[in-house]
Amino acid sequence: MRETFGDVAEIMPKYRDLSIPDLITLTVKKPLAALDAAIQAQDGTRFAAAYGQLTASCNACHRSYDRAVIVIQSPTVAAFPDQDFRPPTK
Ligand code: HEC
Repeated sequence: MRETFGDVAEIMPKYRDLSIPDLITLTVKKPLAALDAAIQAQDGTRFAAAYGQLTASCNACHRSYDRAVIVIQSPTVAAFPDQDFRPPTK
């Protein structure tokens, strides 16, 4: 995600009258770093909190660009609904 946001900031530094790099810094930069730290620490509670903050920051940028209609949310269903990832029971 960081790489993609970096590409977007480089390719389109300004969209309408707002600076894309500034908005990325103001919104998703910190939550992405917090998510990274939670993954490194293998801390599920911190991951969930950081994921929620990241999602909120995505939506904050969308609102800044008059795109409040684009609402990101935490997944409500598994990305692989046909696979069971629970550890096997004996
Ligand atoms: C720098 C501001 C900014 C940030 C940060 C941002 N977005 Fe966006 N996003 C936009 C804008 C502006 C559009 C609409 C572009 C257009 O209309 O052409 C958009 C469009 C989208 C779309 C396309 C919706 C559609 O139906 O076409 C998705 C999906 C999306 N963003 C997801 C995300 C996610 C997930 C995050 C956070 C991880 C995020 N965005 C963070 C500005 C941002």
